[in-house]
Amino acid sequence: MKYSVEYLKIVDDILKNDSVKNLRQYKHHYSYTRLEHSLSVSYYSYIICKFLHLDYISVARAGLLHDLFFYDCENKTTRPKNHIKTHPKISLENAKKLFILNDKEQDIILKHMWPVTPKMPKYKESFIVTFVDKYCALKEWSIYCAFKTQLCFLFLVLQYLNFYHLQYL
Ligand SMILES: [Fe+2]
Ligand SMILES: [Fe+2]
Repeated sequence: MKYSVEYLKIVDDILKNDSVKNLRQYKHHYSYTRLEHSLSVSYYSYIICKFLHLDYISVARAGLLHDLFFYDCENKTTRPKNHIKTHPKISLENAKKLFILNDKEQDIILKHMWPVTPKMPKYKESFIVTFVDKYCALKEWSIYCAFKTQLCFLFLVLQYLNFYHLQYL
């Protein structure tokens, strides 16, 4: 994806941070890294908020920090219990250790799993990030599922050809 110069300026200090760069090491929704996912959520939210004349700076920054946790969330045996509900709070605590966040940015990170977590977002920008996050998750999952489906299809074709071939031996 090609990011705008303005967007890159807004998130420059976050992208240069070593802990944030570290998100590259974690798979997220199977086919992406957590950094790629966070960048998508941040950039799409920034574009939407800019179009709607909302606070595009806060969504760009908080969107990039909304999944700032450092464990493998795909591994159900090692991830914290209740990961789905607890990771927004973990991400907010991690983000607060690294950056000064305004109220809106904190709300965006903490409520991004709404309605899975019951507390309602306080700002329009928080709602936008919750919806963009779900859209990105769905897109990333569907790419993974499509890949798996193609593999299954290929496997079935090979099995069929193998069976057909064996019949004539
Ligand atoms: Fe999340
Ligand atoms: Fe997310």
